[in-house]
This record gives sequence, C-alpha cells and structure tokens, in this order.
Amino acid sequence: MKRFTSVYDVADVEALVQDALQLKSDPFAFEGLGKHKTLVLLFFNPSLRTRLSTQKAAQHLGLSVISLDTENSWKLEFEEQVIMNADKPEHVKEAAAVISQYADIIGIRAFPGLTDKEKDYQDFVLEQFIRFAQVPVISLESAIRHPLQSLADLMTIREHQRNSKPKVVLSWTPHPRALPQAVANSFVEWMQKAEVELLVTHPPGYELDPSFIGNTIVTHNQEEALSGADFVYAKNWSALAPYGQVLHCDPQWMIDARKMSLTRQGRFMHCLPTRRNVEVHDEVLDSPHSLVIEQAQNRIYAAQAVLKNMLLYGK
Ligand code: CP
Repeated sequence: MKRFTSVYDVADVEALVQDALQLKSDPFAFEGLGKHKTLVLLFFNPSLRTRLSTQKAAQHLGLSVISLDTENSWKLEFEEQVIMNADKPEHVKEAAAVISQYADIIGIRAFPGLTDKEKDYQDFVLEQFIRFAQVPVISLESAIRHPLQSLADLMTIREHQRNSKPKVVLSWTPHPRALPQAVANSFVEWMQKAEVELLVTHPPGYELDPSFIGNTIVTHNQEEALSGADFVYAKNWSALAPYGQVLHCDPQWMIDARKMSLTRQGRFMHCLPTRRNVEVHDEVLDSPHSLVIEQAQNRIYAAQAVLKNMLLYGK
C-alpha cells in the first residue's frame, strides 16, 4: 500500500480487518519491522485519538515517531503558479519533499475549510501533499474521509456482531458547531464494502454527497431506521447546501435510551469526541451497550495494520 486515503486504496478490506484483529491479539509480533524507520505525523488540526493511537501503533512496530503541529511551522501554500508575497512563506512542493527526507511514512490530518465545496471534495490539501511527497502517505482524516476511523469501526462491528449481516444505522445527531462530513462519508464507504445492512438517517437538508451515498438507503424517519438495529453509529455533520452550515440543531435527533430500546439490543458507536446530552444522552454513552472506548482502542490496531502493510509493501 503506497497511500491510505480511502477504502479504495485497500486491495482486500476483510483481510486488513482480520490483520488488525490479529495485531490486537499480539501487538508486538512485528516489533522489529519498523526498526531504524521514522513515521512523521503532520497535524493541520487538533487530535486526541488519532495522534496517540497512531503513535502507539508505530511504537508496537518499532518505528520512531516525529509529530508536527503545523501551527508551530511555516504556513504552507498549496496553489501552484502563485506569487508568494502574502502570508504563506513555504510551498507544499518543498515541504512535502523535505519531510520525505526525514520520514519513511507520512501521516497527515487536514480538515476541510467548509467554505469551498469543490476544493474540499477534491481533497486538495491531502492530494497536493501526496503529489509532492516521496514516501507513502496515510490520511489521519482529510477534508472528506477518515479511513483509519472507519477501519477501526469495522473491526469493532466484526468483534460484536451476532449475525452474519448486522443492521447498521448511521444517524445524524445535533451539534452546535459546523462539523465536516468526513466521518460519515467514510463510514458509508467502508460499510458499503462490508457484509452489513446499512441504513442512513438524517433530517431533510443534511443529505450526504451522492458520490458517497450511492445506492445506500436513506430515511428521514430516525425511529423507523433504528427499529431492529444491531449497531447505531451516531455522528453530526454540516449541510452540503448551503455548504458547511448548521441548518438547525434539533434536539429530537439526540440518541437516548428510549431510541436505543427500539433496536435489537443494539450497540452504540461514535468516533468521539462527542457532546454529551447534545448528540447522545449520558444514559446511552455510560451504558454497557456503548462501544465508544473499544472503537478508540481499535484505532491503535487499525493504524498498526496500515503501517505494517506500508512497511512491507509501500516501496
Ligand atoms: N475520532 C478521532 O479521530 O478523534 P481525534 O479527532 O481526537 O483524533
């Protein structure tokens, strides 16, 4: 694997999930694989889970890790053929090539601006970086996808599913701030590749991009969607039109115990961070049906499986 930016970079999704689960059972089985190699993590945006779980994964493989918050570095120019006489002193052409001298693998987190849909949906920052990097690149969440999260989510479903084709519901939840569509887009993409019955529910106006939703069934009736669900994945996202806006924060869409009672003893999932009693009620998040901490734990082994693959086959 030379790049990990979406499910389409993975030759065999089920094999990657099984490898991640195997690494979870024996985390140090490949502890010499990354010896004398370096992972550089580049964060254009904040992170708790992604930063720590990816570092932990790298440590399990014997990789050294260097992490850089771009707010402590030079502001980068991503456009080409520009006269760089404003506030951005370094171009991504040099930056990506230079970081490649220090790294055997680069991880990048670059959220969307949520103002220019066309640019965000080209994944402009990530793709420009990959273009000029000389080593394999892992997305640590881009403008439109969060593949490491989705891989960990699929691992978690595999560990807890009680039938061969579980019903998985992705539900929009309220949130006061405008959030990217990346987690939802990515979750849909990965679930479409898995043996699950996927249903998406959101209020009118919060449609996901057709390029991601494809033929997935969507309903505006949240309770109908939750009926008989095995897994409830809660997540907020902002609207596509007007792009990046919060249309409303309807509390009726919060996941609470009554809604979970409509499921088939369904398990609750969320990528975190989550706003308690806005997106999800305490009684759900604190219940034994919540898988959110396991999802976060699985982020380690999802990252480890991807790093292992790149170390073995990334050249
Ligand atoms: N779920 C997730 O990516 O968490 P962080 O934003 O804290 O990395």
